[in-house]
Formats: sequence, C-alpha cells, structure tokens
Amino acid sequence: MSTHVTKSGVAAAASGTDQFARHLIRYGGDFPDLLVEQAEGSWLTTEDGRRILDFTSGQMCATLGHGHPAIAAAMREASGRVVHLFSGFLSRDVTELARELMALLPEPLTRAMFLSTGGEANEAALRLAKLHTGGHEVLAFAGSWHGMTAGASSSTYSAGRRGYGPAMPGTMALPTPNPYRCPIAHCRDRCDRTCLDAGMALADAQSTGAPAAVIVEPILSAGGIVPLPDGYLADLKRQCERRGMLLVVDEAQTALGRVGTLFAFEQDDVVPDLLALSKTLGGGLPLSATVTTDEIEADTAAKGFLHITSHVSDPLPAAVGRAVVRTVLAEGLAERAVAMGARLREGLEELQRRHEPIGDVRGRGLMLGVDLVTDRETREPDTAYGTAVTERCLELGLNVNIVRFQGLGSVLRMAPPLTIPPEEIDLGLEILDQALADCR
Ligand SMILES: Cc1ncc(COP(=O)(O)O)c(C=O)c1O
Repeated sequence: MSTHVTKSGVAAAASGTDQFARHLIRYGGDFPDLLVEQAEGSWLTTEDGRRILDFTSGQMCATLGHGHPAIAAAMREASGRVVHLFSGFLSRDVTELARELMALLPEPLTRAMFLSTGGEANEAALRLAKLHTGGHEVLAFAGSWHGMTAGASSSTYSAGRRGYGPAMPGTMALPTPNPYRCPIAHCRDRCDRTCLDAGMALADAQSTGAPAAVIVEPILSAGGIVPLPDGYLADLKRQCERRGMLLVVDEAQTALGRVGTLFAFEQDDVVPDLLALSKTLGGGLPLSATVTTDEIEADTAAKGFLHITSHVSDPLPAAVGRAVVRTVLAEGLAERAVAMGARLREGLEELQRRHEPIGDVRGRGLMLGVDLVTDRETREPDTAYGTAVTERCLELGLNVNIVRFQGLGSVLRMAPPLTIPPEEIDLGLEILDQALADCR
C-alpha cells in the first residue's frame, strides 16, 4: 500500500478509492487497495498476484466456494437455453427448484416465489404478511439487517437509518437477545427472555391495532453473530400467534448448511409462516426465495397479491439454485459445516486463552463470531482494535469481516466456504493469531 499526504498534511495509506475507484460511488466507506482478478475455492487472487484466503465467502453467499464446477456448469448450460423471460412466464428450472426446495422444508411450507436479492425476498414476505393479516405493523430486532429496499431497510436497525427520511409507519424494534450483552442489563451469559416480554409489551403499547409480522434472523449477523438463545424462537412464535402476527424468518446467511442443518429454524423446532432465502441459495449469483404456506398463498392470491420484478422467476439463476441445492446435499455440506465449524471454534477458543481482547467466541456451524473487548469484565467493544486486526489480516492474506455497528460490539465474522479443507482453517487461524498479536 503506498502512502500519500492528505490535505491536512497527515501521511495516509492510499486507499483503493483513490487508486482505482475514481468513477465509483462509495456505498460502504472506502474500498481496499486491491483488485480481485480470480476466485477459486476459498482463495482470491488479486491483479498484482496476492493470494487471499476468503473467510467471508464473498458477501456470505459462496458457501460452495468460488468457482464451483457445478455452478459453472449450470450457468453454461442455462445460458445456452434460456436466461431471462417475461415475468409471467415459467420455465422447468423454476418449477423444479420450487419442488426440490419444498421436499427439504417441513409442512406447511409449500409455495415459493423466486427473486434476486435478500432485500427483495424480505420485501415480498412483508408484503404478503401485510396483505394476509390486513395489518402493517412489523417488529424486528434492534441489531437486525434485512436489506436496503424500503420495507426491508425500515426493519433494519443495525445501521443506515439516519439521513434517508421516514421509515415505514408501524415498524418497531425489539431488543436483540444477546446473552453476552443483554439489551436490558438483566441477564449475563444467559437469556430468560425477559427482553422479549418487555419488547412485546412496548410494541403492544405503541400498536394502533394493525399487527402484521415479526421478522428475525436465526443468527443475527450484522448484529454481531448472535444466535437466538434456546427456546427464544418458539416463544416468539407463540407471542406472534397471540397477536395475529406472522413470523418471518430471514435465512439469508444461515440456510443450506452453514449452521450445520439445512435451515437454522430446524434447530429451534419452529416452522415460520414465511421464510426468506437468499445469499446461500444462489451460491454467489443473485437468487432469492420467499416461501410460505398454501393458506397464505391462496388468501393473498385472492386479494390480488402483486409483486412483479424484472427478474422474478428468471430461469438462469433458478438453474444455478438447483445446482447449489444438489451440491449441498451431494457433498454433505451441512455435515462439513459441523466438522469444520468445530475445528474453527476450537482454534478460536485456543486463541481466546492467549489473547485477552477476545471476550467471546460464539455462533453455530461455520458461522462464528469473535467478540473483541477492551476489558473482559465490562465487555466494552474494542472497535479500534477490531478494525486494526481486520486490516492486518488482509495484509497477511486473510479476508475477515468486522461487524461493529453502534453498541453491537466489535465482532470478527468468520464464515469461510463450507467446502474449505481443514488445513485452510488452520492457516486462517495462524494468520488471525499473528494479526491479533501484531495489533496489540
Ligand atoms: C440476514 C440478511 N437479510 C437480508 C440481507 C439483504 O440481502 P441483499 O443484500 O441480497 O439484499 C442481508 C444482507 O447482508 C442479510 O444479512
């Protein structure tokens, strides 16, 4: 990385924004100082020949690894047949993907529509919930991330709320049930669900009598890798039923093996009314799905449900989705996530014994978080250290992501492809070990 002198006269590292991105809009801060030329398995190669181990699976999508032959073959084959259609037309890959997904999901989840992004899948889920219930009030966690479209971003509380005008009327936040950082300073290292009772009571007080849905991630990701505590989702479903609200589970990051089961909600013995799949379904291509029941589908169809996008039911991404589902099953990737996740967790816990700033290691399967603190007793998030460690990791050849939104912690997000071999897990741990030491 070259250095330059800023207007204030301070020497600073030249960012990729200066070097490469003169004509790009910065949508999430400055870009790093690199251009990726190729990606294969768990590895990225930059234009100048650097190799980087990718512990974020791209943007948490490439669970099969980069350049998986099954995805490449599906793209090749579909691109020679049919890529895109009039939104009202269907193709065999779309009907088959729906059938194949439903075979993996429990009753009464029976119907899907296919869109492009996670935000869109949540948007469609919330619109279905509103039309079905007749309400419009939607609750989501204070640490949530559900996407950037208007409805999804109204229910995204972890970041990006200020400066864009009013959120959708009726959106309300629920306390994030994080046992390491109890939102109501009531529990420590456990959750007795008082935060849920308190949150629902507040929502009841604010309600104008038009409840529609609660939308949740089974493991909050941008919120700091927070798995919902045991029993929480079942309790939340009961609370929804009492109020005539639908439960929407957003499995953008957790579905199709990452957390050790095909779907995270299975671990909680709860079936949602609406399920949103995205990132991991396309394996790196834009494909998402909103899934619901026959009952909700029939009711909303009768009420004239409209949700047409340019790429709804597009054949090519559906063909890729089928290849992803087939590969997850054929390669036993959920089981791999359990085995490789245990190896990674063990390694991270060993680092925790030697590195004082690691306050907590948590998550499920191959979706783990390393919570960095200034003090293990107060658990004050160490965002400066977290930022330095991520930057040092990148210099040393490891791409890890930090989630550090206000008050939610300073958490390294570790989510390599589920196909990662054990020696690459160990290499990632070695690099992290060095970066943690170098930045002290
Ligand atoms: C849990 C969750 N839901 C939804 C989204 C939005 O997905 P997309 O960026 O594909 O719209 C994200 C994106 O990070 C996410 O993490």
